[in-house]
Amino acid sequence: MHPMLNIAVRAARRAGTIITQHLSNPSAVETIQKGQNDFVTNVDKQAEAAIIEVIQKAYPEHTIIGEESGQLLGSDDSIQWVIDPLDGTTNFVKGFPHFAVSIAARQNGRTEVAVVYDPIRNELFTAVRGQGAQLNGYRLRMADIKSIEGTVLATGFPFKYKQFTQNYMSMVNALFVHCADFRRTGCASLDLAYVACGRVDGYFEIGLKPWDFMAGELIVREAGGVVTDFVGDNHYLDSGNLVAGNAKVVRGILTTIREYLGNSLSR
Ligand code: IPD
Ligand code: CA
Ligand code: CA
Ligand code: CA
Repeated sequence: MHPMLNIAVRAARRAGTIITQHLSNPSAVETIQKGQNDFVTNVDKQAEAAIIEVIQKAYPEHTIIGEESGQLLGSDDSIQWVIDPLDGTTNFVKGFPHFAVSIAARQNGRTEVAVVYDPIRNELFTAVRGQGAQLNGYRLRMADIKSIEGTVLATGFPFKYKQFTQNYMSMVNALFVHCADFRRTGCASLDLAYVACGRVDGYFEIGLKPWDFMAGELIVREAGGVVTDFVGDNHYLDSGNLVAGNAKVVRGILTTIREYLGNSLSR
């Protein structure tokens, strides 16, 4: 196994144990409001601290960017770990059992290894650049879907960016004419992992942060899928606007949403 993947898996499993232990002990969960409709708990922070400890023990020189800790600059900033210790905090707080630990390691701006770990189902999605994606050790390959007709698409509502509601709802309207149905599961990293394994056929969301999608993006690509911004470019690192699926599904989504892109969604 790639040595960095080995460390990412160890860190993700450790964080997963912390998260599931708290599920059966909800009185030990403290929730703090970070912003409008945006929450963090002591469990997010504990899980992140555990991940950082594992990475720093193996690679004290690497740089780490964590959702809750910000950037921890190491002596070697050519390698960056991008971590979301608990993706799906709202689900976790509500006891809705769907969330994940997301860890990606990037070298010189390219993601090399990725892990998305669902501790409830014990599902470990992994990818190594150029070596494919796996679910619990089984190789993932995207299905050959020919168009968006009849597809099931995952998405996330722009609950932190309500100024985009109108454009977003117009996109949903337009897509709903073609697709069979939508899923909004509240965990972006698993949405991407589910694209990679065919549980949904495509995915789009507005305003994601790098830790939400960095690992899932490599998993989709290594399963043979495509990830773009809203106009088919790769500027989603800046905009956080993502579309994922096989090439035909992504093309179908982009063509359908094109006329609803306001200025701020033009990528
Ligand atoms: C959130 C989840 C959610 C998505 C949000 C993310 P968090 O991450 O991935 O599905 O819709 O945009 O912020 O805050 O629970 O780690
Ligand atoms: Ca969060
Ligand atoms: Ca997240
Ligand atoms: Ca999070």
